[in-house]
Amino acid sequence: MNNVVVFDHPLIHHKMAILRDKNTSSKQFRELVEEISTLMAYEALRNLPLKDVEIETPIAKCQAKMISGKKLAVVPILRAGLGMVEGLLTLVPSARVGHIGLYRDHETLEPHEYYCKLPEDVSEREVILLDPMCATGGSAVAAIDFIKQRGCTNIKLMHIIAAPEGLERVQKEHPDVSVYCACVDEKLNEHGYIVPGLGDAGDRIFGTK
Ligand code: PRP
Ligand code: URA
Repeated sequence: MNNVVVFDHPLIHHKMAILRDKNTSSKQFRELVEEISTLMAYEALRNLPLKDVEIETPIAKCQAKMISGKKLAVVPILRAGLGMVEGLLTLVPSARVGHIGLYRDHETLEPHEYYCKLPEDVSEREVILLDPMCATGGSAVAAIDFIKQRGCTNIKLMHIIAAPEGLERVQKEHPDVSVYCACVDEKLNEHGYIVPGLGDAGDRIFGTK
């Protein structure tokens, strides 16, 4: 698939095995979501632009490089995306955080918006949209639609698990958005859950079931 990066790293494989396990506690699940997000972000942010700067070490002046250009906005899709935020902020603590609230209707699987608060200058920022799960792709497509309506042109999407159906939909509707996934799973079941997946990410992060 064009514009989709799927990670193949031993640390991510190991953490994914524990994350998927139905016996993993909410505490450990939250920690793993954060750790996997940090590992993914390290790669997803590889092409941030740099500028030359001069600094002075205790020994001498020297040329060095710092991140320049567009600043970042990290935007989790509520609720489950919240679990990924700290993983990103660990690497980029100055990033602004916006929130998009969407829930998926259990019958129709259509996303419904209930909240949207983005940084005022979001159109000038590179946006990293976070949601651990991409099932039908409806939530990711709706969130990208909101962000684009606010004038954003530089958007990356990070999922921990995606279904092929969801990725296809996101790519078809937003081919300009780069997608980063720790894993692409087999399929969706008749209830719209990812197989084998990890169950309901929001419930597992917040212990609501
Ligand atoms: C889950 C998940 C995604 C969405 C994926 O959220 O976190 O946002 O489902 O499904 P889709 O690709 O078919 O749209 P959910 O709607 O269960 O809300 P929650 O995070 O509040 O639990
Ligand atoms: N949302 C989840 O949290 N899990 C799935 O498998 C599908 C949608």
